[in-house]
Amino acid sequence: MLVICLGRDPLIKEFLISAKNLKTYFEVRKGLFKRLGYVKAVDGVNLDIGRGETIAIVGESGSGKTTLGRTLLRLIEPTYGTIFFDKTDITKLPEKELKWLRKRTGMVFQDPYSSIDPMQRIYSIVEEPLLVNKIGNEKEREKAVLEALSNVKLEPPEDFARKYPHMISGGQRQRVAIARALIMRPDFIVADEPVSMLDASVRVEILTLLKELQTKYNISFMYITHDLATAKYFSDRIAIMYAGKIVEIGLSREVIREPLHPYTQALINAIPDPDPSNRYKEKETVGGEPPSLLNPPSGCRFHPRCPYFIKGKCEIEEPSLREVKFGRWVACHLY
Ligand SMILES: Nc1ncnc2c1ncn2[C@@H]1O[C@H](COP(=O)(O)OP(=O)(O)OP(=O)(O)O)[C@@H](O)[C@H]1O
Ligand code: SF4
Ligand SMILES: [Mg+2]
Repeated sequence: MLVICLGRDPLIKEFLISAKNLKTYFEVRKGLFKRLGYVKAVDGVNLDIGRGETIAIVGESGSGKTTLGRTLLRLIEPTYGTIFFDKTDITKLPEKELKWLRKRTGMVFQDPYSSIDPMQRIYSIVEEPLLVNKIGNEKEREKAVLEALSNVKLEPPEDFARKYPHMISGGQRQRVAIARALIMRPDFIVADEPVSMLDASVRVEILTLLKELQTKYNISFMYITHDLATAKYFSDRIAIMYAGKIVEIGLSREVIREPLHPYTQALINAIPDPDPSNRYKEKETVGGEPPSLLNPPSGCRFHPRCPYFIKGKCEIEEPSLREVKFGRWVACHLY
């Protein structure tokens, strides 16, 4: 079914993905028969992603970032809402009709140690998506694999192609994972904390590489991270996620320079200071505990931790995500 979806974010010129009121709930059971309820991992997300843009999804552990990324790729069934991918409604497409989506999307995982098969040579790991999708003959696939390895700067590619994962470093393994994700020339990649398990010295290299490839191939890129500092440098826009909901979205530099939602402000106050002379300066942390998604707080989910809590309103009324300035969306009763 081809549907023309109306865009709503004025910063996006050409839409690739548009999620409307997206919900992904996980059933929680005790034993076989007793249902305890649902973990509302993604709970009413509206999100547009432009073609060729990098959007960072930032939030504390358990806020639903991975579930959102996997739901947009239809690796998890959404419970409610709609997802448009390149103007096609993919929300309810049956698995056999999702083949083309698998060709046009990819995922880079946090842990390069477990996301690639240690028993296969690098060549076979990178070639696999082409084989699964029956693309090219042997010669064409070989050319594509060597080009993919060169693209991720594993040079000379013929040497790396022959190696096994244990023969290369963690950063190089993540390059292999990126080569495999990109070999199908996808339109959209979800990179879920792609550098958090790597040494600090190679993190920037890998992020810079992803950015280069994203620009070269005009890929839309969802960068999931806890780290606002790298989100600022490597993404066009930042979406802040709290307890299954997006609470603020805007241009990265503006969100960092002038955070509007109290939760975003708390996250920014908690960024470590890179200036060594301020090393011992106390950084604030986001006070309190992240809420249970099985039984989230009423009204605004941030209200038990919010220093600006408005009694009689915030615990009762859920704030909706509204455009409070051009291209800046915030869900908070203060605005
Ligand atoms: N398959 C599942 N079954 C049940 N609950 C799940 C499942 N996957 C995730 N959850 C729950 O959904 C919530 C959101 O999880 P998710 O992994 O999406 O968060 P996250 O923001 O990616 O966290 P992290 O930063 O730690 O990776 C958590 O409470 C998690 O326990
Ligand atoms: S809606 Fe109320 S509780 Fe929620 S962030 Fe805004 S001021 Fe704080
Ligand atoms: Mg995660």
